[in-house]
Amino acid sequence: MQTVVAQGRLIDQQLHVGSHPGHDVTHRLKIRVDNVSFWYGEKQALDGITLDLYDQEVTAFIGPSGCGKSTLLRCLNRMNDEIREARMTGQILLDGENINAPDVDPPFLRRRFGWVAQKPNPFPRSVYYNIAYGALLHGLVRRRDETDALVRRCLERAGLWDEVKDRLDKPGTDLSGGQQQRLCVARAISTDPEVLLMDEPGSALDPVSTAHLEELIEELREHYCIVIITHNMQEAARISQRAAFFHLGKLVEQGDTKDIFVRPRTQLCHDYVTGRYG
Ligand SMILES: Nc1ncnc2c1ncn2[C@@H]1O[C@H](COP(=O)(O)OP(=O)(O)OP(=O)(O)O)[C@@H](O)[C@H]1O
Ligand SMILES: [Mg+2]
Repeated sequence: MQTVVAQGRLIDQQLHVGSHPGHDVTHRLKIRVDNVSFWYGEKQALDGITLDLYDQEVTAFIGPSGCGKSTLLRCLNRMNDEIREARMTGQILLDGENINAPDVDPPFLRRRFGWVAQKPNPFPRSVYYNIAYGALLHGLVRRRDETDALVRRCLERAGLWDEVKDRLDKPGTDLSGGQQQRLCVARAISTDPEVLLMDEPGSALDPVSTAHLEELIEELREHYCIVIITHNMQEAARISQRAAFFHLGKLVEQGDTKDIFVRPRTQLCHDYVTGRYG
């Protein structure tokens, strides 16, 4: 595996930019965030964010705590709709269509997204049920053989099948932390989403499980537009094609991951990716 090491004095903590390919101009624009601002009551959390997210690419949202990363992630699938007194201006276009248009049904929109949370949170039911539930609920599968095939396909894609194929009837919560998180990834893809949103998915995992999850994300990339929030700069540099650096609700820099980590344009971004503050 070839590893490109950041050159020069700029990056002084030996940040390894991954061997994964960078941003590819032939990849399709999936989501356009257009001048989005967001308020929780009086408190403004996002200020004029304009950002493009591409199919078959991982975009990393980075930046210090409270800068608005999770807020923006929740705007993408309208999860913030549930929050009272929340207000958004600007537009988010998914495949060119405004997700907040009056004729968009939020539950239907949310099905186009898979969500992986910070802490593995399988349902306290069987491994099988964890995967089958959403697809049965939405009528994507009906017969037992279809459901069996879906469960197997999702677990294989999440790199978990061999480890759990003999324990499909055992509680998902009995798996190890890393396995539980891969089960949650398998669950997230069970309803056939187009976009995967991951809010610090590796933060509760040990380094080996995190490495496993990163490999999985790189494999999944081929099929989805992926957005991942991480506080781990090594991880962001390793797994993403594009990165967006936020600070106090503003998007300070966005671009190809290699540029953000090797040649950041702003002092703020430089100081953050080199670990001077966070
Ligand atoms: N439900 C809420 N009600 C009011 N304010 C909120 C709510 N959720 C977040 N905030 C505020 O909005 C700002 C952005 O929060 P957000 O959770 O998006 O940050 P973040 O970048 O994800 O931070 P972290 O890295 O700590 O997860 C913060 O000031 C936060 O306190
Ligand atoms: Mg957050």
